[in-house]
Amino acid sequence: MIKFTIITLFPEALEPYLKTSMMWKATEKGLAEFNFVNLREFGLGPHRSVDDTPYGGGDGMLLRCEPVFNAIESVKAKDPTAKVILPTPVGKIWNQEMARELQQGNLTSIERAQAESESPTEPSTGQHRAQARLGDEDSAWREANRSSDSPVVTPHYIILCPHYEGYDERILSIVDYKISLGKYVLTGGELPALIIIDSVVRLIPGVLGGEQSAIIESFSDGDNLEYPQYTKPYDFRGMKVPDILLSGNHGEIDKWRKEHSGKA
Ligand code: ADE
Repeated sequence: MIKFTIITLFPEALEPYLKTSMMWKATEKGLAEFNFVNLREFGLGPHRSVDDTPYGGGDGMLLRCEPVFNAIESVKAKDPTAKVILPTPVGKIWNQEMARELQQGNLTSIERAQAESESPTEPSTGQHRAQARLGDEDSAWREANRSSDSPVVTPHYIILCPHYEGYDERILSIVDYKISLGKYVLTGGELPALIIIDSVVRLIPGVLGGEQSAIIESFSDGDNLEYPQYTKPYDFRGMKVPDILLSGNHGEIDKWRKEHSGKA
């Protein structure tokens, strides 16, 4: 079981995906739980404002601290072990190993990358993070998750989806992991949140059909890409299935598959 709480201004953009196919199946089986917090509910003033102009000038609007902190704290009040993920183009680039770590509640490689990026060359971020890491909650979570095989608590991740041009830098003091989906810029954190959730939830045993599916597929073993696969019909417009796959010789089939696995 894994829990995600998504803090967003646009829950309606995420809900349909999470109520479809494998994500829905995971929820139905009690293997995953998705909750939404609408950031607007924590907005300021009669217009429930969540953003403002940058000090020092510049284009666009930035997410303000107060609504974000209040929203995150409202979730942490119920579950102090919850970890905060911020999708941002300046985060650590997401990969299969990180997905596995999140699924198991054992985030060593992500934490290593985070620690490296908090070198003294980034003084303000490092300082904010250092302060955030000293909390008792952090050590409680680590203690509870010491064994990666059987986490004592259900991993719970809060994904904060920024929108607009960016966010106030002080928001990083309440963030545990900055994650980037790649070297391009999206309009908000909603699509990254869905990608992170999908790639983690499908790894939970019982979510995918075949037990082996998540193990043998692409990227599970380093950078190996999956081998070519075929289903019926045998002959489609003159394109035939390789005969070895019909031979019933599993040793030879395994050998063929290894030889035909691509590399990233
Ligand atoms: N927000 C905007 N662009 C992003 C990216 N590439 N990865 C994660 N979050 C983002």
